[in-house]
Amino acid sequence: MFVQGTSLLRAAAAMSFAAGLLSTTISSNAADSTVKVGLIIPMTGGQASTGKQLDNAIKLYVQQHGDTVAGKKVEIILRDDAANPENTKRIAQELIVNDKVNILAGFGITPTALATAPLATQAKVPEVVMLAGTSIITERSPYIVRTSFTLAQSSTIIGDWAVKAGIKKVATLTSDYAPGNDALKFFKDHFIAGGGQVVDEVKVPLHNPDFAPFLQRMRDAKPDAMFVFVPGGQGGNFMKQFTERGLDKSGIKVIGPGDVMDDDLLNAMGDAALGTVTAHMYSTAHPSKVNKEFVAAYRKAFNSRPGFVAVGGYDGIHLIYEALKKTNGNTDGDALVAAMKGMAWESPRGPISIDPETRDIVQNIYIRKVERVDGELYNIEFQTFDAVKDLGKTRK
Ligand code: PHB
Repeated sequence: MFVQGTSLLRAAAAMSFAAGLLSTTISSNAADSTVKVGLIIPMTGGQASTGKQLDNAIKLYVQQHGDTVAGKKVEIILRDDAANPENTKRIAQELIVNDKVNILAGFGITPTALATAPLATQAKVPEVVMLAGTSIITERSPYIVRTSFTLAQSSTIIGDWAVKAGIKKVATLTSDYAPGNDALKFFKDHFIAGGGQVVDEVKVPLHNPDFAPFLQRMRDAKPDAMFVFVPGGQGGNFMKQFTERGLDKSGIKVIGPGDVMDDDLLNAMGDAALGTVTAHMYSTAHPSKVNKEFVAAYRKAFNSRPGFVAVGGYDGIHLIYEALKKTNGNTDGDALVAAMKGMAWESPRGPISIDPETRDIVQNIYIRKVERVDGELYNIEFQTFDAVKDLGKTRK
């Protein structure tokens, strides 16, 4: 009975979404001088610092490039989903049906990007993923385009690096949800193939993780290194507990994708972070002119440093602006996605492009080490892998 009631409710919601879509199509046929971008990001809850970075970066881009593109005024409608996919789905529906947005963007964690995918497909609205990093995301809708990264891109590379660096025994700590599982799988595939050994595996909840029991176990097990994936925003808390338990003095190194060493939080981690090697697509210290200007403008506007999350947002809004230029302001979803496919530009992270087949990002992955420069901690890049595609898809 309950199940039946629930499915009836679902059917009713789907019907009203479909009816809403019909009226959306009719009204958007009228010549409209505004492009509406529905930005769904976590502004509250445990992932709020990532929502803030995305919001900042988009504000900065609009400040620098103006709010008019191809003769249309860009209106950004920000909605907070607190990283809860139930909220995201409801908000995406409202944005599509009531606000009649032309583009959906943001998505701070994988479940929120996935929850929106069927709606993007049904409404034929592009979904620009600016942070979530699980490989399968772009396969869930032909309207999804990603400007962030995948965990496969960085975890394979750090797996190979660990072998070459002579690391033999690793214990892993990963967030217990899709990107954590990707990070673990791709790291292990490469590390074990190279002769490495994984001696312990621990998964922690995505929300409010307590790292203490794991850290205690690590002190006793004494692996050469810990492979850590926590999503952007959580690295500070991890390193605080790491230091409190004296692991910074234990000789056990932290390695992983660069999410744990987010530049946004790095300075607050203190000396415990020094020497940590990670693989990632962006460092605040990336030594290019484009990045130096980006970092200076971001610091000036927000009195803080941009991290990799900010760059995903900055490039995401750039992609939207450039696609609109290419379509001459046509907001048809298919036209916009076609315009985004194959687009290439120089990001603060280095050269990037959108793979025309997968709509996923192609970018350099850098291996970096935390060092102190001019009194601040930075991820200093020392090796570059050029134009890395999402290895999570190509290997299927
Ligand atoms: C994700 O949920 O896909 C995600 C979020 C933040 C990250 C990486 C992955 O830093």
